[in-house]
Amino acid sequence: MSSSFWHPFANMSAVARKEFVVDRGEGVWVYDTAGARYLDATASLWYTLVGHGRTEIIDAMAAQARRLEAYHTFGDFSNPPIAALAERIAGYAPEASSKVFFTSGGSDSVDTAAKMARRYFQVTGEPERTILITRSWAYHGMHGFGTSLGGVPGNADGYGTLLPDVVRVPFDSTDALSAAIDEAGARRIAAFFCEPVIGAGGVRPAPDGYLKEARRIVSDAGALFIADEVVTGFGRAGDWFASNRFSLEPDLITFAKGVTSGYLPMGGVITSPRVSAPFFADGGPMLRHGYTYSGHPTVAAAAMANLDILEREGLAGRALELEGTLVEGLESLTDHPLVGGHRSGVGFLGALVLAPDALARDADLPVKAFLAARAAGVICRPIGGDGLQVSPPLSITDAEFDQLIALLRRGLDALPVGT
Ligand SMILES: Cc1ncc(COP(=O)(O)O)c(C=O)c1O
Repeated sequence: MSSSFWHPFANMSAVARKEFVVDRGEGVWVYDTAGARYLDATASLWYTLVGHGRTEIIDAMAAQARRLEAYHTFGDFSNPPIAALAERIAGYAPEASSKVFFTSGGSDSVDTAAKMARRYFQVTGEPERTILITRSWAYHGMHGFGTSLGGVPGNADGYGTLLPDVVRVPFDSTDALSAAIDEAGARRIAAFFCEPVIGAGGVRPAPDGYLKEARRIVSDAGALFIADEVVTGFGRAGDWFASNRFSLEPDLITFAKGVTSGYLPMGGVITSPRVSAPFFADGGPMLRHGYTYSGHPTVAAAAMANLDILEREGLAGRALELEGTLVEGLESLTDHPLVGGHRSGVGFLGALVLAPDALARDADLPVKAFLAARAAGVICRPIGGDGLQVSPPLSITDAEFDQLIALLRRGLDALPVGT
Protein backbone atom coordinates (compact mmCIF):
# COMPACT_ATOMS: atom_id res chain seq x y z
CA MET A 1 0.00 0.00 0.00
CA SER A 2 1.31 3.42 -0.94
CA SER A 3 0.88 6.27 1.52
CA SER A 4 2.07 8.90 -0.96
CA PHE A 5 -0.17 8.21 -3.95
CA TRP A 6 -3.16 10.59 -4.24
CA HIS A 7 -5.58 8.72 -6.50
CA PRO A 8 -7.67 10.56 -9.13
CA PHE A 9 -11.46 10.64 -8.60
CA ALA A 10 -11.07 9.01 -5.21
CA ASN A 11 -12.18 9.57 -1.68
CA MET A 12 -8.74 9.18 -0.14
CA SER A 13 -10.04 8.73 3.40
CA ALA A 14 -11.43 5.39 2.21
CA VAL A 15 -8.97 4.52 -0.55
CA ALA A 16 -5.73 5.14 1.35
CA ARG A 17 -6.64 2.28 3.68
CA LYS A 18 -7.73 -0.10 0.94
CA GLU A 19 -6.18 0.08 -2.50
CA PHE A 20 -6.91 -2.39 -5.27
CA VAL A 21 -3.53 -3.05 -6.82
CA VAL A 22 -3.48 -4.22 -10.44
CA ASP A 23 -0.29 -6.05 -11.22
CA ARG A 24 -0.47 -7.44 -14.76
CA GLY A 25 -2.76 -7.93 -17.71
CA GLU A 26 -3.34 -10.31 -20.58
CA GLY A 27 -6.13 -10.13 -23.14
CA VAL A 28 -9.36 -9.17 -21.39
CA TRP A 29 -7.98 -10.18 -18.00
CA VAL A 30 -6.07 -8.29 -15.32
CA TYR A 31 -4.49 -9.81 -12.22
CA ASP A 32 -4.01 -8.42 -8.72
CA THR A 33 -0.82 -8.84 -6.71
CA ALA A 34 -2.17 -12.02 -5.13
CA GLY A 35 -2.63 -13.50 -8.61
CA ALA A 36 -6.45 -13.40 -8.66
CA ARG A 37 -7.83 -12.62 -12.11
CA TYR A 38 -10.60 -10.23 -13.11
CA LEU A 39 -12.36 -9.77 -16.41
CA ASP A 40 -11.76 -6.17 -17.47
CA ALA A 41 -15.35 -5.25 -18.42
CA THR A 42 -14.50 -1.53 -18.77
CA ALA A 43 -11.30 -1.92 -20.83
CA SER A 44 -9.70 0.12 -18.04
CA LEU A 45 -11.21 3.59 -18.71
CA TRP A 46 -12.78 2.57 -22.08
CA TYR A 47 -9.44 2.51 -23.86
CA THR A 48 -7.95 -0.99 -24.04
CA LEU A 49 -9.54 -1.74 -27.41
CA VAL A 50 -7.09 -4.48 -28.43
CA GLY A 51 -6.74 -6.06 -24.96
CA HIS A 52 -3.82 -6.12 -22.56
CA GLY A 53 -0.29 -7.40 -23.17
CA ARG A 54 -0.07 -7.13 -26.97
CA THR A 55 3.66 -7.65 -27.49
CA GLU A 56 3.45 -6.22 -31.00
CA ILE A 57 2.69 -2.77 -29.54
CA ILE A 58 5.25 -3.12 -26.78
CA ASP A 59 7.95 -4.14 -29.28
CA ALA A 60 7.10 -1.19 -31.55
CA MET A 61 7.39 1.17 -28.59
CA ALA A 62 10.75 -0.27 -27.59
CA ALA A 63 12.13 -0.15 -31.14
CA GLN A 64 11.15 3.49 -31.56
CA ALA A 65 12.45 4.45 -28.11
CA ARG A 66 15.82 2.93 -28.97
CA ARG A 67 15.99 5.03 -32.14
CA LEU A 68 14.54 8.31 -30.87
CA GLU A 69 12.62 8.15 -27.62
CA ALA A 70 11.22 11.67 -27.71
CA TYR A 71 11.54 14.96 -29.46
CA HIS A 72 9.26 17.96 -29.59
CA THR A 73 7.32 19.09 -32.65
CA PHE A 74 6.95 22.82 -32.00
CA GLY A 75 7.62 25.03 -35.00
CA ASP A 76 9.07 23.11 -37.95
CA PHE A 77 10.11 19.97 -36.01
CA SER A 78 8.62 16.61 -36.96
CA ASN A 79 9.53 12.93 -36.76
CA PRO A 80 8.73 9.97 -39.02
CA PRO A 81 6.23 8.12 -36.77
CA ILE A 82 4.10 11.20 -36.04
CA ALA A 83 4.01 12.20 -39.71
CA ALA A 84 2.87 8.69 -40.66
CA LEU A 85 0.29 8.62 -37.88
CA ALA A 86 -1.19 11.97 -38.91
CA GLU A 87 -1.61 10.71 -42.50
CA ARG A 88 -3.20 7.52 -41.25
CA ILE A 89 -5.68 9.18 -38.89
CA ALA A 90 -6.58 11.77 -41.54
CA GLY A 91 -7.37 8.79 -43.78
CA TYR A 92 -9.92 7.44 -41.26
CA ALA A 93 -11.58 10.86 -40.85
CA PRO A 94 -14.97 11.52 -42.43
CA GLU A 95 -13.65 14.44 -44.51
CA ALA A 96 -10.80 14.23 -47.01
CA SER A 97 -7.80 16.52 -46.45
CA SER A 98 -8.34 16.71 -42.68
CA LYS A 99 -5.41 17.75 -40.49
CA VAL A 100 -4.47 16.21 -37.15
CA PHE A 101 -3.24 18.13 -34.08
CA PHE A 102 -1.75 15.91 -31.38
CA THR A 103 -2.10 16.18 -27.60
CA SER A 104 -1.44 13.97 -24.57
CA GLY A 105 -5.02 12.96 -23.77
CA GLY A 106 -8.71 13.70 -23.95
CA SER A 107 -8.82 16.77 -21.70
CA ASP A 108 -5.99 18.33 -23.70
CA SER A 109 -7.95 17.61 -26.87
CA VAL A 110 -11.11 19.27 -25.57
CA ASP A 111 -9.18 22.40 -24.54
CA THR A 112 -7.48 22.40 -27.93
CA ALA A 113 -10.77 22.10 -29.81
CA ALA A 114 -12.40 24.87 -27.77
CA LYS A 115 -9.47 27.20 -28.38
CA MET A 116 -9.34 26.29 -32.07
CA ALA A 117 -13.05 27.08 -32.42
CA ARG A 118 -12.83 30.50 -30.84
CA ARG A 119 -9.57 31.35 -32.63
CA TYR A 120 -11.00 30.18 -35.96
CA PHE A 121 -13.80 32.71 -35.69
CA GLN A 122 -11.43 35.41 -34.59
CA VAL A 123 -9.21 34.94 -37.64
CA THR A 124 -12.17 34.65 -40.01
CA GLY A 125 -13.69 37.95 -38.89
CA GLU A 126 -16.41 36.83 -36.46
CA PRO A 127 -14.75 37.39 -33.07
CA GLU A 128 -18.14 37.71 -31.36
CA ARG A 129 -18.63 33.95 -31.79
CA THR A 130 -17.38 32.80 -28.39
CA ILE A 131 -20.29 30.80 -26.94
CA LEU A 132 -19.77 27.08 -26.49
CA ILE A 133 -22.91 24.95 -26.22
CA THR A 134 -22.72 21.72 -24.29
CA ARG A 135 -25.14 19.03 -23.04
CA SER A 136 -26.40 17.75 -19.74
CA TRP A 137 -24.53 14.60 -18.65
CA ALA A 138 -21.61 15.54 -20.90
CA TYR A 139 -18.10 14.58 -19.85
CA HIS A 140 -15.36 16.48 -21.64
CA GLY A 141 -12.44 15.90 -19.29
CA MET A 142 -11.13 17.82 -16.34
CA HIS A 143 -9.06 20.72 -17.69
CA GLY A 144 -10.42 24.26 -17.47
CA PHE A 145 -12.54 24.08 -20.61
CA GLY A 146 -13.66 20.50 -19.98
CA THR A 147 -14.68 21.19 -16.39
CA SER A 148 -16.68 24.21 -17.61
CA LEU A 149 -18.33 22.19 -20.38
CA GLY A 150 -19.15 19.11 -18.31
CA GLY A 151 -22.69 18.22 -17.32
CA VAL A 152 -22.09 15.47 -14.78
CA PRO A 153 -23.50 16.68 -11.44
CA GLY A 154 -20.81 17.54 -8.90
CA ASN A 155 -17.80 17.59 -11.20
CA ALA A 156 -17.58 21.40 -11.36
CA ASP A 157 -18.40 22.08 -7.71
CA GLY A 158 -15.99 24.01 -5.54
CA TYR A 159 -13.73 25.44 -8.22
CA GLY A 160 -15.13 28.96 -8.21
CA THR A 161 -16.13 30.77 -11.39
CA LEU A 162 -15.39 28.68 -14.43
CA LEU A 163 -15.38 29.72 -18.08
CA PRO A 164 -17.88 32.32 -19.28
CA ASP A 165 -19.88 31.90 -22.51
CA VAL A 166 -20.83 28.28 -21.89
CA VAL A 167 -24.50 27.32 -22.40
CA ARG A 168 -25.80 23.90 -21.37
CA VAL A 169 -28.81 22.19 -22.99
CA PRO A 170 -30.59 18.91 -22.20
CA PHE A 171 -28.67 16.12 -23.92
CA ASP A 172 -31.63 14.64 -25.73
CA SER A 173 -33.55 17.59 -27.18
CA THR A 174 -32.80 19.26 -30.50
CA ASP A 175 -35.61 21.73 -29.76
CA ALA A 176 -33.68 22.84 -26.68
CA LEU A 177 -30.56 23.25 -28.81
CA SER A 178 -32.44 25.44 -31.32
CA ALA A 179 -33.98 27.48 -28.51
CA ALA A 180 -30.58 28.06 -26.88
CA ILE A 181 -29.13 29.25 -30.19
CA ASP A 182 -32.11 31.58 -30.75
CA GLU A 183 -31.79 32.99 -27.26
CA ALA A 184 -28.06 33.69 -27.48
CA GLY A 185 -28.22 34.73 -31.14
CA ALA A 186 -26.78 32.47 -33.82
CA ARG A 187 -24.00 34.95 -34.53
CA ARG A 188 -22.63 34.51 -30.99
CA ILE A 189 -22.23 30.72 -31.19
CA ALA A 190 -18.74 29.31 -31.74
CA ALA A 191 -19.33 25.60 -31.29
CA PHE A 192 -21.50 22.77 -30.06
CA PHE A 193 -19.73 19.98 -28.18
CA CYS A 194 -21.31 16.57 -28.61
CA GLU A 195 -20.39 13.06 -27.50
CA PRO A 196 -22.15 10.83 -30.08
CA VAL A 197 -22.77 8.42 -27.21
CA ILE A 198 -22.39 10.07 -23.81
CA GLY A 199 -19.85 7.93 -22.00
CA ALA A 200 -18.77 8.82 -18.48
CA GLY A 201 -22.11 10.58 -17.90
CA GLY A 202 -23.75 7.16 -17.79
CA VAL A 203 -23.65 5.71 -21.32
CA ARG A 204 -26.50 7.61 -22.96
CA PRO A 205 -26.85 7.09 -26.70
CA ALA A 206 -28.44 10.05 -28.46
CA PRO A 207 -32.12 9.56 -29.34
CA ASP A 208 -32.80 8.34 -32.89
CA GLY A 209 -32.21 11.15 -35.38
CA TYR A 210 -30.77 13.50 -32.74
CA LEU A 211 -27.23 13.63 -34.10
CA LYS A 212 -28.16 14.42 -37.72
CA GLU A 213 -30.67 17.05 -36.63
CA ALA A 214 -28.23 18.64 -34.17
CA ARG A 215 -25.62 18.70 -36.92
CA ARG A 216 -28.09 20.51 -39.22
CA ILE A 217 -29.05 23.06 -36.56
CA VAL A 218 -25.41 23.86 -35.79
CA SER A 219 -24.59 24.22 -39.51
CA ASP A 220 -27.55 26.54 -40.00
CA ALA A 221 -26.24 28.69 -37.14
CA GLY A 222 -22.86 28.90 -38.91
CA ALA A 223 -21.18 27.40 -35.82
CA LEU A 224 -18.76 24.50 -35.52
CA PHE A 225 -19.90 20.98 -34.63
CA ILE A 226 -17.34 19.31 -32.38
CA ALA A 227 -17.71 15.56 -31.94
CA ASP A 228 -15.98 14.43 -28.75
CA GLU A 229 -14.98 10.93 -29.77
CA VAL A 230 -12.53 10.31 -26.94
CA VAL A 231 -14.60 7.25 -25.98
CA THR A 232 -16.28 6.38 -29.29
CA GLY A 233 -13.28 6.82 -31.60
CA PHE A 234 -11.20 4.07 -33.19
CA GLY A 235 -13.84 1.38 -33.35
CA ARG A 236 -15.93 1.30 -30.20
CA ALA A 237 -18.93 2.83 -31.98
CA GLY A 238 -18.77 0.28 -34.80
CA ASP A 239 -16.81 2.40 -37.27
CA TRP A 240 -13.54 4.33 -37.12
CA PHE A 241 -15.55 7.17 -35.63
CA ALA A 242 -19.21 7.44 -34.65
CA SER A 243 -19.13 10.50 -36.91
CA ASN A 244 -18.47 8.23 -39.91
CA ARG A 245 -21.24 5.87 -38.90
CA PHE A 246 -23.81 8.67 -38.53
CA SER A 247 -22.46 10.82 -41.43
CA LEU A 248 -21.91 13.82 -39.17
CA GLU A 249 -18.93 15.41 -40.93
CA PRO A 250 -17.94 17.35 -37.79
CA ASP A 251 -15.77 20.43 -38.08
CA LEU A 252 -13.56 19.03 -35.31
CA ILE A 253 -13.24 15.56 -33.79
CA THR A 254 -11.48 15.10 -30.46
CA PHE A 255 -9.88 11.72 -29.83
CA ALA A 256 -7.62 9.96 -27.28
CA LYS A 257 -7.83 6.58 -25.50
CA GLY A 258 -8.37 4.04 -28.32
CA VAL A 259 -5.78 5.62 -30.61
CA THR A 260 -3.11 3.79 -28.60
CA SER A 261 -5.42 1.44 -26.66
CA GLY A 262 -3.81 3.27 -23.73
CA TYR A 263 -0.41 1.63 -24.15
CA LEU A 264 0.94 5.18 -23.97
CA PRO A 265 -1.07 8.38 -23.45
CA MET A 266 -2.12 10.29 -26.55
CA GLY A 267 -4.96 12.47 -27.78
CA GLY A 268 -5.64 14.79 -30.65
CA VAL A 269 -8.04 16.86 -32.70
CA ILE A 270 -8.97 16.07 -36.29
CA THR A 271 -9.69 19.33 -38.06
CA SER A 272 -11.78 19.57 -41.19
CA PRO A 273 -10.52 21.70 -44.10
CA ARG A 274 -12.96 24.47 -43.12
CA VAL A 275 -11.16 25.02 -39.81
CA SER A 276 -7.60 24.33 -40.88
CA ALA A 277 -7.70 26.36 -44.11
CA PRO A 278 -7.12 29.85 -42.67
CA PHE A 279 -4.20 28.57 -40.57
CA PHE A 280 -2.60 26.69 -43.49
CA ALA A 281 -3.10 29.49 -46.03
CA ASP A 282 -0.04 31.44 -47.21
CA GLY A 283 0.62 34.14 -44.64
CA GLY A 284 -2.04 32.66 -42.32
CA PRO A 285 -1.93 33.21 -38.57
CA MET A 286 -0.24 30.95 -36.06
CA LEU A 287 -2.15 28.89 -33.53
CA ARG A 288 -0.24 29.68 -30.34
CA HIS A 289 -1.08 26.39 -28.71
CA GLY A 290 0.56 23.01 -28.18
CA TYR A 291 1.88 20.66 -25.53
CA THR A 292 5.34 19.41 -24.64
CA TYR A 293 4.39 15.89 -25.72
CA SER A 294 2.34 16.80 -28.83
CA GLY A 295 3.69 14.51 -31.55
CA HIS A 296 5.78 12.24 -29.29
CA PRO A 297 7.46 9.63 -31.53
CA THR A 298 7.36 6.66 -29.13
CA VAL A 299 3.67 7.26 -28.46
CA ALA A 300 3.12 7.52 -32.22
CA ALA A 301 4.83 4.14 -32.71
CA ALA A 302 2.49 2.62 -30.12
CA ALA A 303 -0.49 4.14 -31.95
CA MET A 304 0.67 2.79 -35.33
CA ALA A 305 1.05 -0.74 -33.95
CA ASN A 306 -2.33 -0.50 -32.21
CA LEU A 307 -4.00 0.68 -35.43
CA ASP A 308 -2.34 -2.23 -37.28
CA ILE A 309 -4.10 -4.62 -34.89
CA LEU A 310 -7.44 -2.79 -35.09
CA GLU A 311 -7.28 -2.99 -38.90
CA ARG A 312 -5.97 -6.56 -39.19
CA GLU A 313 -8.47 -7.97 -36.71
CA GLY A 314 -11.36 -5.87 -38.07
CA LEU A 315 -12.20 -4.69 -34.57
CA ALA A 316 -14.51 -1.82 -35.59
CA GLY A 317 -16.63 -4.39 -37.45
CA ARG A 318 -16.41 -6.70 -34.45
CA ALA A 319 -17.72 -3.85 -32.24
CA LEU A 320 -20.73 -3.57 -34.52
CA GLU A 321 -21.39 -7.30 -34.11
CA LEU A 322 -20.87 -7.05 -30.36
CA GLU A 323 -23.33 -4.16 -30.12
CA GLY A 324 -26.23 -6.62 -30.35
CA THR A 325 -24.49 -9.16 -28.13
CA LEU A 326 -24.13 -6.50 -25.44
CA VAL A 327 -27.80 -5.52 -25.64
CA GLU A 328 -28.80 -9.19 -25.26
CA GLY A 329 -26.33 -9.80 -22.44
CA LEU A 330 -27.51 -6.79 -20.41
CA GLU A 331 -31.13 -7.62 -21.20
CA SER A 332 -30.59 -11.15 -19.82
CA LEU A 333 -29.76 -9.61 -16.43
CA THR A 334 -33.00 -7.64 -16.17
CA ASP A 335 -34.74 -10.56 -14.45
CA HIS A 336 -32.53 -9.86 -11.43
CA PRO A 337 -34.40 -8.01 -8.66
CA LEU A 338 -31.63 -5.39 -8.35
CA VAL A 339 -31.62 -4.56 -12.07
CA GLY A 340 -34.00 -2.02 -13.61
CA GLY A 341 -32.79 -2.05 -17.22
CA HIS A 342 -29.90 -0.94 -19.36
CA ARG A 343 -28.69 1.79 -21.70
CA SER A 344 -27.00 0.36 -24.77
CA GLY A 345 -27.54 -0.18 -28.47
CA VAL A 346 -24.98 2.07 -30.16
CA GLY A 347 -21.53 0.54 -30.22
CA PHE A 348 -19.87 -1.77 -27.75
CA LEU A 349 -20.59 0.25 -24.62
CA GLY A 350 -23.46 0.06 -22.20
CA ALA A 351 -24.70 0.69 -18.69
CA LEU A 352 -26.54 -1.86 -16.60
CA VAL A 353 -29.09 0.27 -14.76
CA LEU A 354 -30.02 -0.74 -11.24
CA ALA A 355 -33.64 -0.96 -10.10
CA PRO A 356 -35.16 2.41 -9.13
CA ASP A 357 -36.72 1.03 -5.92
CA ALA A 358 -33.38 -0.45 -4.83
CA LEU A 359 -31.60 2.84 -5.66
CA ALA A 360 -34.21 4.77 -3.68
CA ARG A 361 -33.45 2.57 -0.65
CA ASP A 362 -29.69 2.85 -1.09
CA ALA A 363 -28.04 5.55 -3.23
CA ASP A 364 -24.69 3.76 -2.76
CA LEU A 365 -25.96 0.68 -4.55
CA PRO A 366 -23.93 1.30 -7.75
CA VAL A 367 -20.72 1.37 -5.71
CA LYS A 368 -21.77 -1.72 -3.75
CA ALA A 369 -22.68 -3.53 -6.97
CA PHE A 370 -19.33 -2.61 -8.51
CA LEU A 371 -17.48 -3.95 -5.45
CA ALA A 372 -19.56 -7.13 -5.38
CA ALA A 373 -18.95 -7.71 -9.09
CA ARG A 374 -15.23 -7.17 -8.61
CA ALA A 375 -15.18 -9.63 -5.74
CA ALA A 376 -16.89 -12.09 -8.11
CA GLY A 377 -14.15 -11.52 -10.73
CA VAL A 378 -15.39 -8.83 -13.13
CA ILE A 379 -14.40 -5.14 -13.14
CA CYS A 380 -17.22 -2.71 -13.99
CA ARG A 381 -17.54 0.91 -12.85
CA PRO A 382 -20.31 2.83 -11.09
CA ILE A 383 -21.56 5.36 -13.63
CA GLY A 384 -24.28 7.96 -14.14
CA GLY A 385 -25.46 7.66 -10.53
CA ASP A 386 -27.59 4.62 -11.30
CA GLY A 387 -25.62 1.90 -13.00
CA LEU A 388 -22.53 -0.01 -14.00
CA GLN A 389 -20.36 0.62 -17.06
CA VAL A 390 -19.81 -2.33 -19.39
CA SER A 391 -17.39 -1.60 -22.26
CA PRO A 392 -14.90 -4.46 -22.60
CA PRO A 393 -12.00 -4.66 -25.04
CA LEU A 394 -13.21 -5.14 -28.64
CA SER A 395 -10.98 -8.22 -28.76
CA ILE A 396 -13.22 -10.12 -26.33
CA THR A 397 -14.38 -13.56 -27.51
CA ASP A 398 -18.01 -14.70 -27.37
CA ALA A 399 -17.12 -17.16 -24.58
CA GLU A 400 -15.44 -14.42 -22.55
CA PHE A 401 -18.44 -12.16 -23.01
CA ASP A 402 -20.73 -14.93 -21.69
CA GLN A 403 -18.38 -15.27 -18.74
CA LEU A 404 -18.60 -11.51 -18.13
CA ILE A 405 -22.39 -11.67 -17.88
CA ALA A 406 -22.23 -14.74 -15.62
CA LEU A 407 -19.72 -13.06 -13.30
CA LEU A 408 -21.83 -9.91 -13.18
CA ARG A 409 -24.86 -11.97 -12.15
CA ARG A 410 -22.79 -13.72 -9.50
CA GLY A 411 -21.74 -10.33 -8.11
CA LEU A 412 -25.33 -9.06 -8.01
CA ASP A 413 -26.45 -12.30 -6.36
CA ALA A 414 -24.02 -11.64 -3.52
CA LEU A 415 -25.86 -8.43 -2.59
CA PRO A 416 -28.86 -8.40 -0.26
CA VAL A 417 -32.05 -7.74 -2.23
CA GLY A 418 -33.59 -5.68 0.63
CA THR A 419 -37.18 -5.00 1.38
C1 LIG B 1 -15.78 12.10 -23.98
C2 LIG B 1 -14.53 12.39 -23.19
N1 LIG B 1 -13.86 13.52 -23.42
C3 LIG B 1 -12.73 13.82 -22.76
C4 LIG B 1 -12.24 12.97 -21.79
C5 LIG B 1 -10.98 13.33 -21.04
O1 LIG B 1 -9.95 12.48 -21.36
P1 LIG B 1 -8.64 12.35 -20.42
O2 LIG B 1 -9.10 11.71 -19.15
O3 LIG B 1 -7.72 11.51 -21.26
O4 LIG B 1 -8.09 13.71 -20.22
C6 LIG B 1 -12.90 11.78 -21.52
C7 LIG B 1 -12.39 10.84 -20.50
O5 LIG B 1 -13.00 9.86 -20.18
C8 LIG B 1 -14.09 11.49 -22.21
O6 LIG B 1 -14.80 10.39 -21.94
